[in-house]
Amino acid sequence: MKKMEEQIDIDQLIAAAAAAREKAYTPYSDFKVGAALLLADGAVTEGCNIENASYGATVCAERVAILKARSENPEAQIRAIAVVTQSESPSPPCALCLQVMAEFCAPETPIILANTGGKRLTYRFDELLPHPFTKSLL
Ligand code: THU
Repeated sequence: MKKMEEQIDIDQLIAAAAAAREKAYTPYSDFKVGAALLLADGAVTEGCNIENASYGATVCAERVAILKARSENPEAQIRAIAVVTQSESPSPPCALCLQVMAEFCAPETPIILANTGGKRLTYRFDELLPHPFTKSLL
C-alpha cells in the first residue's frame, strides 16, 4: 500500500514537471525543461528553463524550482525532484544544477528523469554527483 502511494506521488511529480515544462521560455534552443520538487510538507514547487539573449544568463528549470522553493520558504526540505525533457533518453541535470542540488539534497534524494514520451530513470542524488563540493569542506 505504501509503495502504491509512493508510486502515485512520483506520477504526480512527473506530471507537475511536464506542466511546468510547457511554460519554458526557449527561443534559442527550443529545448524545454520542467522540474518539480516534492517538499517535506507535501508541497510541490515547479520551475522551467528561462533563456536569455546573452545565453549565459539562461537559468535551468531545476535551479528556478530550487531557488523559488527556498526563497519562498527557507525551511523547505527537498524529498524528491522530477525533471522532464524532450530528449530521447531522459536528460540528467547539468553540473551547475547538480551543484545547487548538492546544497539542498541528501545523498539518497531520488532524482527522477523523465522524457515527454514516458520514459523514466530514477537515480539517487549521489549517483549523479558522487563527490559534491559542500559546506563541510569549508
Ligand atoms: N537546461 C535545463 O533547464 N536544465 C538542465 O539541467 C540542462 C539544461 C536548459 C538550459 C537551456 O535553456 C536548454 O536546456 C538547453 O541547454
